[in-house]
Amino acid sequence: MLAEALAMPATRPGHITRQIEEPRFDPARHLALTWPERITSLADFGYGAADRARTPSPVAITSPFRLLSDEGVAALESVLQVLKQDAVVAQRKRLSVFLAGGVYRSRFLRDLVRAPELLDHLSAIAGTPLAPHPMPQYQAYVNYAPADPTKAVDNWHVDSLGFDAVMMVNDPRKLKGGRFQYFHGTREEAMALTGARDEIELTHGWTTELPANRVISAEFPAAGYAFFMQGDYVFHRAGQLEEPGDRITVVPGYIARDLAWPDRTKTAKMQLWAPDHIMVELTRHAAWLGREKLAGLIEQVQFDEAGDRRALAEKLEAAVADVLRIAGELRQGAAMHASPKDRSPG
Ligand SMILES: [Fe+2]
Repeated sequence: MLAEALAMPATRPGHITRQIEEPRFDPARHLALTWPERITSLADFGYGAADRARTPSPVAITSPFRLLSDEGVAALESVLQVLKQDAVVAQRKRLSVFLAGGVYRSRFLRDLVRAPELLDHLSAIAGTPLAPHPMPQYQAYVNYAPADPTKAVDNWHVDSLGFDAVMMVNDPRKLKGGRFQYFHGTREEAMALTGARDEIELTHGWTTELPANRVISAEFPAAGYAFFMQGDYVFHRAGQLEEPGDRITVVPGYIARDLAWPDRTKTAKMQLWAPDHIMVELTRHAAWLGREKLAGLIEQVQFDEAGDRRALAEKLEAAVADVLRIAGELRQGAAMHASPKDRSPG
């Protein structure tokens, strides 16, 4: 059974009050979807059967493919230049200037990343049906170049969610440096090279220089191109700009609709950095996972299972496991906030 995408919340977080003037998204005019020339698989990266069994998609990363038309690029860039006023500078090791709540502020951005045409296309590439990530902060993460070009746009990391695309909004031919790079290898290898102790630490942002023969630069031929990846399996960075320039990327995030595989959203660490309104998104995410899994169980449970009470109990427990796990994380977060420490995005 495939989960149905979660709708946007009916209301917005209290601190987001600004409405912007913007064009209306039109898939016929703004999208120009093409197929990637190259799709590199998790197996190509060296991932073994156990890692590959945690996801319904065999894809590690694609080469860049055209996603937006020229008109789409112009429209999106105008929206993102306005939204730049609301972007924040991340603390700690990630050093990026980013905006996470763009889908609340811009209907254009929301309609673009949630467009059924785009979802169908990315699902075909992934080889599994995708939905917009249930947490709006992940639906369109916008990265801006830092004002100081000696700082990396974003250091080496793996993402905190399963599926994302990275879309170049500016003309990359006008930029010196700032290239997107990824490590051709597994998380275990990345951990050995960086000294990260686990996958969570790999999300933190590393400045380690990796062996050059294992690092691949994604070449974006023009603005409006994107690549698609399972971002939690691909150790990647946006390199330093060699001179100041406008470099804006949009990272739409997705989740597999087939909930037979585990949710890979790294929810636990959100308690360390996320502001209060994200806890509402997290609660909706957990409730969605529970609702969809319970709905699947209602459909699937059969009378010939009637004799095995233990198996039935296990099915019910599995359906609500995400709900209980995330409730537990929220309780831990509450205990942490009883002794408040510095909170900053990770
Ligand atoms: Fe990333």
